[in-house]
Formats: sequence, C-alpha cells, structure tokens
Amino acid sequence: KKIFAFSIRKDEVPYVKEWAENHPEVEVEYTDELLTPKTAAKAKGADGVVVYQQLDYTPETLQALADEGITKMSLRNVGVDNIDMAKAKELGFEITNVPVYSPNAIAEHAAIQTARILRQTKVLDKKIANGDLRWAPTIGREVRDQTIGVIGTGHIGRVYMQIMEGFGAKVIAYDPFENPELKKQGYYVNSLDDLYAQADVISLHVPATKENFHMIDKDAIAKMKDNVVIVNCSRGALVDTDAVIEGLDSGKIFGFVMDTYEDEVGIFNEDWRGKEFPDKRLKDLIDRSNVLVTPHTAFYTTHAVRNMVLNAFDNNLELINGEEADTPVKVN
Ligand code: NAD
Ligand code: COI
Repeated sequence: KKIFAFSIRKDEVPYVKEWAENHPEVEVEYTDELLTPKTAAKAKGADGVVVYQQLDYTPETLQALADEGITKMSLRNVGVDNIDMAKAKELGFEITNVPVYSPNAIAEHAAIQTARILRQTKVLDKKIANGDLRWAPTIGREVRDQTIGVIGTGHIGRVYMQIMEGFGAKVIAYDPFENPELKKQGYYVNSLDDLYAQADVISLHVPATKENFHMIDKDAIAKMKDNVVIVNCSRGALVDTDAVIEGLDSGKIFGFVMDTYEDEVGIFNEDWRGKEFPDKRLKDLIDRSNVLVTPHTAFYTTHAVRNMVLNAFDNNLELINGEEADTPVKVN
C-alpha cells in the first residue's frame, strides 16, 4: 500500500515520519508542492493521497488524480469549500477531512484577538514603538463588560464561548441547529437579528456555504450596535469586506479581526517582502490600527498540525483498506 502526500511543510515532516514509522506496512512519499493538474502525476502508483491546500481542488485537478487511478483523498484540514464536489462525485471520489484536529487552536486565537481589539493593543504597540508612552486616549474596554454574540456553536464556536465566559463576558449565541446542552443553559437567542441587536462583539464560527456567502453585509452591519467588534476566524466569504470597510470608516465598527479574507488565496502564506503587495484593499486593512489581520494562522499550532497529519493519514489508510471512514466528507 502506498500513500502520497502533497504540500507537506517543514513543520509537518516530523509528524509524517512519525506516522510512517508506526505503519511500516505502508509506503509513504511526500512533496512540498501543491496538488495541481501538473503535479498530480507525482502520486503515480499511490492508492490514496493526503492533501491540504487553500488552492481550489478544480475539476482539472481531480481529473488528473483520477487519471492516475487515485480517487481516495484525505484532507488534513476542516473546510471542504474549495472542492468541486460535482466533479468529485462524477469521478467517484471518496474524501475525508479532519473536522476536530484542535478547535481550541482557532477558538483561542479568536479570543486572544478579541481581547486585543478591545484593549487596543495595536494602537498601544505603535505608540510605544514611537516613544509615546502616554495612556490617553488609548483606553480599553473590559471583556467582562461585553455581550459576546457567537454565530455557530459547532466545535470551534463552543470553545470560544467557554473562553469568553472565562473572561467574565455575557455570551449569547445563534445556530439554526441548537446544541441541546447549550440550549438548556439558555445561551441561544431566537434569530440573527436578535444577536445583532444585543451583541457588542460578534464572532463567526460557521462554514462557508452558498447560503452563508456575505452573511455579514451592509444590512447585517446596520442591525448591529454602534461600536461593534466583528471577528472572522472562519472563512473570508462570510464577510462582505467592502461593507466592513464602510462600517470602519463611519465609526460604526470599533474593530475588525480577520484571520480569513475573501481574496486570500494566493496572497496568504506567501512572502511579499521586497515585492509589490498584490491587494490594495488588504494592505489598507493591515495598516489600520483597529483591524487585526492574521494570514489564516488561527489553526497553526503544534498541537493542531500534529493531529491534522496523523488523522489524515489514518483516514486515508481506512479508505484504502475499504473500511468505513471515521470522518467522511459528503461528496454531492
Ligand atoms: P462545525 O461544523 O463544528 O460548526 C459550524 C456550526 O455553524 C454548526 O453548528 C452549524 O449548524 C452552524 N451554522 C451554519 N450556518 C449557520 C448560520 N447561518 N448561522 C448560525 N449558525 C450556522 O464547524 P467548526 O469546526 O466549528 O468550524 C467553524 C468555521 O471555522 C468553519 O468556517 C471552518 O472552515 C473554520 N475554520 C477556520 C480555521 C482557521 O484556521 N481560521 C481552522 C479550522 C476551521
Ligand atoms: C481548516 O482546517 O479548514 C482551516 O481553515 C485551516 C487550514 C488553513 C489549514
């Protein structure tokens, strides 16, 4: 049996080796190159592939893998919004993901950035670096004084709620599929509009689906409280970036946390030093003192990366062995 892995970063190599050592019956090969129609042939002879990338899994890419006789694909990450499912179905792909590699990694990042926005640490850092050690006017808002509105109470949203409660904040939530335990504890409001009307901080923890595209748009922002903080550590497509910029300019939005950006593919996780920055709108956001941009690094911890690699290889072996996969992705 052979598994081929694409786009393996240096920090993943020790975990690939760990898995391979524990599975001497499986031949493991890998490359640091992304899976594209051109590179798919590198997996020749493999029974399955382990992949991760923000680049789309296009019909051409899937076809190129299928041409090598490979239709068992295991993602090392959660999101599956970049796979052409119609083509995957047509080609008979079996796909797995790693839905719970470390919800804490993302929730913790979202919580840290929420607190940083409220305490204006970016402004302070800049002032201090310039030798301005005065307090005013950089006064903070305490987390415990905020009502935190969580949209999506799945794996990550739930952990974010716990962390924010640890700070002493009041937490409310909205999810069309209410978690019975959280419902019993009285967290849910009846609608997104209710959440917008009550929350001082709004944090998104929902998948990017067609229905959720630009759910945070001009209309949604208009329904929010003045001085709202918006946190998006989920997917860029959830937020209409232009609408947020308008809200920042008018002062309606106090601060914006973005770990994901609707045009991030090809920009995040690249080195732009000494080169022309490719996205003016993003550069403008990066330069604002009340916007915290991170390049989709919420997940990026040693704990998460180890689980992503080990679980994806486990999953791929299950597919190859014809066993029922633990975490199948619906291909439709
Ligand atoms: P999950 O599937 O466990 O939970 C998502 C929840 O959102 C579900 O309970 C679902 O019912 C709810 N939901 C869907 N549409 C909704 C809507 N319109 N309003 C309210 N609730 C809605 O997902 P998760 O593992 O918690 O992941 C959450 C998000 O985080 C996803 O977008 C995922 O892609 C993203 N993510 C980001 C990173 C990162 O590094 N930034 C890493 C992993 C996952
Ligand atoms: C996911 O797991 O879906 C993520 O968003 C993290 C990914 C960029 C590795």
